[in-house]
This record gives sequence, structure tokens and C-alpha cells, in this order.
Amino acid sequence: HPKSLLRSIMEDGEPLEKLTNQHIYSSEQFDRKTLLQLFRLAAKYEANPGRFSASLQGQILISAFYEPSTRTRLSFESAWHRLGGDIMSITDRSTTGIAKGESLSDVAEMFNNYGDCVVLRDSNEASVKEMMDSLRIPIINAGNGLDEHPTQALADLYTIFKWRPDLIEEPPENPIEICIIGMPSKMRTVRSLLKLIAKFPLSFSKVTIVANEKESAVFSKGQKEQLTAAGLNVEVTNAFSDAVKLADVIYINAIAWEGNTFKEYGAKYQLSNRSPLKPQAIILHPLARGEELCTSLDDTPHNWYFAQARGAVFLRQALLTCLVRRVERVLDII
Ligand code: CP
Repeated sequence: HPKSLLRSIMEDGEPLEKLTNQHIYSSEQFDRKTLLQLFRLAAKYEANPGRFSASLQGQILISAFYEPSTRTRLSFESAWHRLGGDIMSITDRSTTGIAKGESLSDVAEMFNNYGDCVVLRDSNEASVKEMMDSLRIPIINAGNGLDEHPTQALADLYTIFKWRPDLIEEPPENPIEICIIGMPSKMRTVRSLLKLIAKFPLSFSKVTIVANEKESAVFSKGQKEQLTAAGLNVEVTNAFSDAVKLADVIYINAIAWEGNTFKEYGAKYQLSNRSPLKPQAIILHPLARGEELCTSLDDTPHNWYFAQARGAVFLRQALLTCLVRRVERVLDII
């Protein structure tokens, strides 16, 4: 329950003030203190899910999703509505001037005039940074190609700490092993999550990456070295069942990075209610799922992936509350 997490984190207002009007492009940007305060605020929202606030009343979100999305777009929009704000959505870039060759910096300049915050998903990795240079309102990276998906990672770690609030102690008495199925070099959710886990090296006794490739392909340049330097014990294996057997948290993802490997890997690295899981192990998946995650797990205690998606709304509420500067509006024009 979010209240256990709330009780485990002391309130400290200062770290969150740093987020005001900041662009969010990488999970690397968050330090440990800020993360904990953000999770505290998310837990507050989650403890009162029916309570809507008016803290973003009069503020407009520009929700620009140029790639398909169920969870990220709708949970951001749900979060914004719960905070009392209004939304403009673009779900197809071909309906904007970009289709006529308009530059992203010109589009960003227009966004400055029309809204108070931008959430952008784009398969082009460079778009977020290109827009950041011209934006005076905050932009949140909601997935840029293979690069990052920082708010997904925030929701992932928030879920882990809700499950085990004791993990935020320094050091925790019983650190956990996490098994990540997929390629950190090519999966944006995994890349962002690993960067966050690296802020809590004492909470994770081992990070096992399950992949069927050579280590040089599993990590991008310098990625493993950065994780090791942060104090994580990282191992790569292709022994799927052995890795799953030992894990406390299993993070699986739709494995869709090259051609038809989705079906091939989904069948090879598949979790079901017959998988050799520890009784207390939890499964996380950013969703949407493919063959790799069987519905036979949905009604088991291992299913934390639906809680993960649900918690993302409250986590995003917390982030938006911190990012968007609430300015006094002149409501009466004389
Ligand atoms: N987790 C996630 O990014 O899901 P969507 O693609 O549905 O937004």
C-alpha cells in the first residue's frame, strides 16, 4: 500500500523545488533525494486516488505522441486532468506543420505560446533535445526512439519501493536480485531503469541481464562500466530459467528490437504460471505485452505489472506538480 512507502520517507521539500520548470529527458537527471521525495508525493496522491486537485487549473498540457501509446499518453493526460488542467493532444505529426517541413525549433516556439508543458513521444531520438533548445516551458521525454523513457523508469522504481519500502534504507537488511530480460543497448525502458537503479546500488545485490547476444551487443558503449562504477553487480546470461529462479524482481519487456525477433524471443523468453519463480517474486512489465508474458500470470501474486501501470498515474501527477510553475493568472481584464 502506498501508505507504507509514505511512512518510510521523511518529508524534505527542498529537492523537489529543483524540478520547477526543468526539462525531463533522462532518468540520469534525478538524484536519490529527489527520487525519494517524488515517490513520497506520488504515494500521497495514490493514498487518495479519488481526490482531484485544482493545482494546475488554467494550465495547458501539449500532449504530442508521434508513436502509438496506451499507458504513457493516457496516464499523463489522466494525471493532468486530476490536477485540474486542460489538454491539447497531437497524435499524428502529419497533422502539424512538421509534415510540410517546419522545423522543430519553430514548432517549439509555438508551443511556448500555446501551453505550459509538453509531453513528447517520438521515434526520432534527437527530437526532445532539439525542442528543448527552443522551449521556455518544460518538456518531458515520453520515449525517444531506443534512447530513454524516464517517467516509465520512475514508475518502475516507485512500484519496487512500494512493494518493499525497506529497500530505501541505507543499507537495507535484505537487498534484492533483479533480473532484466532484454537488451539495455536497445530498450529504452531498460536503459532508463538501469540509470535509476544505479542511484540505489545497496538495494540491489545483483542485476542479471538475460539476453541471447554477445556482451558487446547487450550494452551500448560505456553502459556496463557506468553501472559497475556506481556499485552495481551486473551479470549477463542466456540461461533464462536459472536467472528467473533466483530473482526477486523480474523485469520483462516486449522484445521487439529487430525484424521478426519479437516472436522468436517472446517464445524463447516467456514467463507463465509454470515458470520457476520464487514464491514472493514480482514481475514488472512496462506493457504492451507480447508472447513473453502469459495471461496465466495475471491472477497470481507475481502480477505487479498492472499495479505498475496504475501507479504511473500518481507518479506522473507528482512530477507534473513539481515541474509546472504555477503563475498567477490575470483572470479579469479591465
Ligand atoms: N509503458 C509504455 O510506454 O506503454 P505505452 O507504449 O502504451 O505508452
